[in-house]
Amino acid sequence: MSYRSTLLGCGKYAPKRVMTNDEIALAVDTSDEWIFTRTGIRRRHIAAPEETTTSLAIEAARDALASASINGGEIDLTIVATSTPDYGFPASACLVQDAVGAHGGAFDLEAACSGFVYALALADSMIRIGSVRNALIIGSELYSRVLNWQDRSTCILFGDGAGAVVLSRAAQPGPLPRFTLGSDGSGGPLLTMYNGGVPEPSNATPGGVRMNGPETFKFGVRILVDVTEQVLRDEGLSTCDVDWLVPHQANQRIITAATKRLGFADERVLSNIEEYGNTSAASIPLALAECVERGEVLPGHRVLTVGFGAGLTWAGGLLTWRT
Ligand code: UT7
Repeated sequence: MSYRSTLLGCGKYAPKRVMTNDEIALAVDTSDEWIFTRTGIRRRHIAAPEETTTSLAIEAARDALASASINGGEIDLTIVATSTPDYGFPASACLVQDAVGAHGGAFDLEAACSGFVYALALADSMIRIGSVRNALIIGSELYSRVLNWQDRSTCILFGDGAGAVVLSRAAQPGPLPRFTLGSDGSGGPLLTMYNGGVPEPSNATPGGVRMNGPETFKFGVRILVDVTEQVLRDEGLSTCDVDWLVPHQANQRIITAATKRLGFADERVLSNIEEYGNTSAASIPLALAECVERGEVLPGHRVLTVGFGAGLTWAGGLLTWRT
């Protein structure tokens, strides 16, 4: 017996404190005009001192459970996709599981900005084989504490936030979700975050995220096109069959260049990078949750999520909303 999964609920949490581009320009040599025209970002949300990746994840998880109208006790798998966990262990997912009263397995998954879609793929396969009925999948990140705030090439890009979905066994027959996952470790040096596991290069600027921006940009455009085309090809669908494309929010210029090439209508491509910046594994569920909150995602809608980032990694997932 094989089962089918569907998205049942979606939630989000963004820290209250907003940091504008002008505020960053007080500390490093940049401007609102440069940041906005090169990235589409105007603001990002920054966690308060008492907030953590786990506390953000718990808020988003509660919001997703309310959206799905189910109790935490009905969850039998919890995954937190994050590159900025509170601890090496315990996993943030275990702390979230306890906070919402969930059961079953709980673990963190690290695949950088692709982590949320990787987690969806894993949860879907466990639902298919019947070992999980309701999975709580969260992307949560707290980049503001790991960035080098003196490095204008990276500190302008990232923000804090969390998004979550409930992925559940569907009651009715319908289309199966489709996933594709990929990685290419030879591109690892393009985007790194040191955490003490290897000696830092002696000529490195201290701390934080290091990125070859232009090469990562080219990769982002190419992979967003390739993954979208592959998922559509595998399913025998065209762009018109997708109600919402939810790309990773890395740079508005990446989203615009790729979706233009794909021929997606702007109004079906979700983008909230102006408000949040790049929230890595949280960016896809955060964008989807806003669309759900506006009442625009309707039962039966097809949602195509595409993540890409450090690793290099990439992942596409085509799912349905409440079918
Ligand atoms: O989520 C993971 C995936 N991440 C991404 O996909 C990010 C991909 N990359 C990007 O989004 C872009 O490469 C950036 C936004 C990071 C940079 O934009 P760019 O158009 O690629 O700029 P660049 O790195 O080629 O730099 C152009 C110029 C340089 O000055 P010179 O050498 O031309 O004089 C930089 O020093 O812009 C300068 N620059 C800045 N100027 C003002 C770099 N950062 C800044 C800044 N403010 N914040």
